[in-house]
Order: sequence, then structure tokens, then C-alpha cells
Amino acid sequence: MKKIIFQKAENNFTMIIFGASGSLAKLKLFPSIYQLAAESRLPADYKIIGYGRSQISNEDFREFFKKSVIEKTERVDLEKLDELLKNIFYVSGQYNEEKDFRKLRSTVEQVEKTKNRIRIAYFSVPPSAFTEIFQNLAAVNFNSIKAKLRLVIEKPFGYDFKSAKKLAQTLKKHFSQEQIYLLDHYLGKESVTNLLSLRYANSILTTLLNREYVSNIQISALESKDIEGRANYFDNVGILRDMVQSHLLQILAYLTMFMPRERTAEAIHHEKAQVLKSIRVNSLVRGQYIGYNKEVSTDSKTETYAAIKLALKHPLWKGVPIYLRSGKSLVEQWTAIVFEFKPRKAQRDDGTLPPNRIVIQLQPYEKIEFHLLTKLGGKTFDFHELTTGRPIYCSGDCLNEHGRLLLDVIAGKNDLFLNFEEIFAAWKVIDPLQKLSTKMKKKDLHLYKKGSKGPKASDELLAKDGFKWFYSLPNA
Ligand code: BG6
Repeated sequence: MKKIIFQKAENNFTMIIFGASGSLAKLKLFPSIYQLAAESRLPADYKIIGYGRSQISNEDFREFFKKSVIEKTERVDLEKLDELLKNIFYVSGQYNEEKDFRKLRSTVEQVEKTKNRIRIAYFSVPPSAFTEIFQNLAAVNFNSIKAKLRLVIEKPFGYDFKSAKKLAQTLKKHFSQEQIYLLDHYLGKESVTNLLSLRYANSILTTLLNREYVSNIQISALESKDIEGRANYFDNVGILRDMVQSHLLQILAYLTMFMPRERTAEAIHHEKAQVLKSIRVNSLVRGQYIGYNKEVSTDSKTETYAAIKLALKHPLWKGVPIYLRSGKSLVEQWTAIVFEFKPRKAQRDDGTLPPNRIVIQLQPYEKIEFHLLTKLGGKTFDFHELTTGRPIYCSGDCLNEHGRLLLDVIAGKNDLFLNFEEIFAAWKVIDPLQKLSTKMKKKDLHLYKKGSKGPKASDELLAKDGFKWFYSLPNA
């Protein structure tokens, strides 16, 4: 049995979280920091400083942090949590006020015990706030200090290709490339990084997953949760920018890219970008759940559901239709990839047999299934489905996504982060769809009931090609 190495933070650090009172920090980041502390993966000297516009004290912020952890964690060790809270501070300020950044800098210097450490600026704010924060960090010379500053920027990286380009230029003006970590939390999920590993390790998959055998690919990221009170953010973004531009296109890239011989960050980024650049979108279905307009208090045309048909000009996948869908307030959470296979020449193909499939489910838990057919008993030439599958348990060094990515930032490793080549290519896929969306009439926004499987028009997208969305939702 291989010895398991548990990743730990080796460097002392200070982390400033911009947007510390926001929902992203609360839902994902704080519980992950707690997990690192509870598993003794943090160094001897670390400090976490929340920065935000809310006028609250250190104590209020610690209380908010504590509540967020308790809400999202199954079993909390309160002693360890209280120990962690001693390392947490809060500074209130505006993002566009240099004087507030001076206050921030002086708090940072006061709380740091040791000089030899790294500093992390974590951006848990909407893209509109990025530039002011970069400028002010540079203006108060956070960058000139020996301990280099690392910036962690969460998706979405801008709103479109143009704003992403501007973001890249502004960053370049103030910071060097190795200081920047562009974070899509899906790449920190064991289940997502496992996609590439499954391809590397299994010749069955390597042999079968290409245009010769696969008739279509379906990638679904269905959520049962709604916009969770993030009306302002979500209504400006919509599901295309929120889920498809980042998480779904990254999954697609992992599944379809050429596998580089060298598993270096550069080689993987490069191959992913080649896939993203080769995408041609054919059709789009947009939906909105009934009641959304009430939640955002406007007569909004923002989509909470999208289904897309696309093709790749990539040699491995040319001619294979690929369908992506993602939506909020659906019947159940289900994130999965389905490969359906073409019938081969010698096979019975009278249209009555379902296709063979490989299903890789990522959420709510990870499993892989092979859908085969087996003979019905008796003399008839009839079949029934034989599904053979296994849950994939994480064994070894298991961590949740933000925890894993944070340890990588502290260690200076960026293979699970994005680069701008990929981001630009992904925006170039989404921009024309956004343009199309603004021209669409209200009737082209397909309404669906909360708790349903989404709009019917999404089924028609596949039906036109003779396919059907595959679901394996336990309760649907
Ligand atoms: C975030 C989106 O990036 O991902 C959210 O902004 C979405 O809208 C979330 O709910 C989904 O992440 P996960 O890890 O819960 O599948």
C-alpha cells in the first residue's frame, strides 16, 4: 500500500479576504479554512483578515465566521474552531479608498508575528470591484514587501472577453504572472481532477472515448438550490456566465483534450485551451424558473437554465454533438457526464435498444457506471439493461475544493488554476450566446416550475438529433 502524504501548509501566511461578509466566503471559504485547521494542516503562524464594507468589529466577524462553519459542517470541534478564531481579524473599508488600504496594511503589520511569510489577497468580490482593489494594493505597496503577495481571484473573470482582457492587462500592470491564481473551484474537486486521472489510468476509456465510438456527450450540472439570495450578483450574470463559462467548459476540456505526455501545468493549460478554441455552438435554449422575477424584484430576462448544443473542431471529436445543461431550482442536484455509444455494424440496431453508456457522476456523490445490455431469459432475441457501477470513494488525502486550492496557493503550485488563454477562449464561446440572449424575445425564455426537470425545449434540443437527456436522479 502506498504511503499517503497529507498536504499541509509549510509557509506561514497572512490572508486578506476581500468581500469577507459575502455569501461565497460564507458558504465555501470559511468552512474550508476550518477543515484545514481541524486537520492540523495550517502552519504555526497564520492570520486571516476579513475586509469588507460592512462596519463590524473583530468580534462580530468571528461570530459570523463561526456561524458559517457550524451551518456547513457536519461535526464541528468547537475547541479547534475557537483556536482558529483567535487568528481572525476584520478591517472595514471601501474598495476605492487608498486611506482604508493604509489602515488595512497597518492591521496586517500589527498582527503578523513573523516576517518570513507569504501574503495572500483573496478576491471573493464581483469582478466590478477587482480593478480598484488591485490599484489600492499596489498604491499602499503591499507588493514591495519581501514576502510576496499572491492574488487569488475567483471566477467569473470579467463579464465577457473584453472585460477579461482588461482584467488581464490591469493585473499585468501591477503584478507578475506567478503572483496570480485564477480560481475555478471545480478544479479543486477530487471528482473533477479525477476525470483526467481516469483517462490516464484506464486504457478502456482512452480507447473508447473518441469520435469513432461515441455518438454524443451530455454534461449536466443541475442544482436544486435557487439563487440563494444572491439576486444582485446572479441577475447580472445568469447561468451561462455563472456555471457554463467556467465549470462546465472546464469539465468538457478535461474530458476531450489530448492528454499531454508531460503532466505539467503548462501542457495541461495548453491542451485545454485547444479544446476551448475549437468549440462551435449550434443552438441554445434559455429558461427561467417561475418566481425568479419576484426574487430579483424586476422583470428580468436573465436565464436560470441553459442547454447548449455544440461541436468541437478537434480531431478526436469532430462531428460528435455535445450537449451541456445547467440550471437552478431543479428537482435534484445532479452533476454528471454521459457518453453514449454508437451501435457497431454487427449489432442489432432496430431502434429499440438503448445505447451503451458510460456515466460518470460527480455530484451528489462520485460514481462510474457502464450501461450494457444482457439477454432476457428464453428463446427470444430480447434484452434488458445491465448497469454495472461503483461509487468512487476518495481515499487518501481527501479535502474539499477550496481547502485543496488554498494549500496549493500557499505552496506556490498553480496546475489546478486557470490561465488567461483558457479564460479568453471560454469567453469567446459565451459572448455570442450572450449577444443572442439580448436579442431574444420574452417568449424564447422558457419558463419552468421550481422543482421540475427544467423546460421542455431543452428535451427538444436533443430530440431533433434522435437523442434524449439521460437522467439517473434517484428521486426524479
Ligand atoms: C458557483 C456558482 O461558482 O458554483 C453558484 O456561482 C453555484 O451559483 C456553485 O451554485 C455550484 O458549486 P457546487 O460546488 O455547489 O457544485
